Amino acid sequence: MSVHQEIKRVTTHSFQEMKNKGEKIAMLTAYDFSMAKVLDEAGVDVILVGDSASNVMAGHETTLPITLDQMIYHAASVIRGTSRALVVVDLPFGSYQGNSKEALNSAIRIMKESGAHGVKLEGGVEIAESIERIVAAGIPVMGHLGLTPQSIYKFGTYTVRAKEEAEAKRLKSDILRLQEAGCFSVVLEKIPAQLAKEATDSVLIPTIGIGAGPHCDGQVLVINDMIGLTKGFTPRFLRQYLDLFSEINGAVQSYIKDVKSGNFPNEKEQY
Ligand code: KIV
Repeated sequence: MSVHQEIKRVTTHSFQEMKNKGEKIAMLTAYDFSMAKVLDEAGVDVILVGDSASNVMAGHETTLPITLDQMIYHAASVIRGTSRALVVVDLPFGSYQGNSKEALNSAIRIMKESGAHGVKLEGGVEIAESIERIVAAGIPVMGHLGLTPQSIYKFGTYTVRAKEEAEAKRLKSDILRLQEAGCFSVVLEKIPAQLAKEATDSVLIPTIGIGAGPHCDGQVLVINDMIGLTKGFTPRFLRQYLDLFSEINGAVQSYIKDVKSGNFPNEKEQY
């Protein structure tokens, strides 16, 4: 019997239990029905419908252009492909930074129109009030600190964050504020491993790292990077489990050859 058959839907409660038991949490992104089905059947704990869809699905340079309607479309497709994983959806840039009412309305739209189980927002103390309002409405919230790609134009680069003492100190107080605001978990992106350890040890809720070392309570990768679909993207933190770009490229070349030579379709492949 495979893992997904033994275990029912992962909840924010089981998420917390995993941290309490010291069981690491495995999270991956997905943006469509077919991929979500594969990840869910493989037994991944959490699927993040990340706004990285803006990059890997739509081909934008940043996550900024993706809209709330587009995120809802991706999220609803992912939900239809899952029966076990907890599904968390990114609130896109511009859908929550205005004020806490806007944030709540955006979170409600995601939950109502996609069937997702929670939302993720980027930022610290400056969005704590919005998080409180969303949590008060019964919507689970995942935080996101460190490299927050929606602020790329403020940072100027995608390099490691919080190497300096002042930013590290801010991150440590931000994570406490996010916990207090009611986040059930926090993503820590591209920060030094030692800082991620200190932040993780300072809170009761699970942390999920990406480029944040081994001490987080779980790990997340962008699925397209992890299976080698994003050609040429090889940051140090990324472990590429497949070279799917080359695999698909080879298959497509074979198909083209077969069509051009008249080898496809053959006698068995027709009516
Ligand atoms: O959008 C995304 O894929 C993310 C992960 C990198 C955590 O936020």
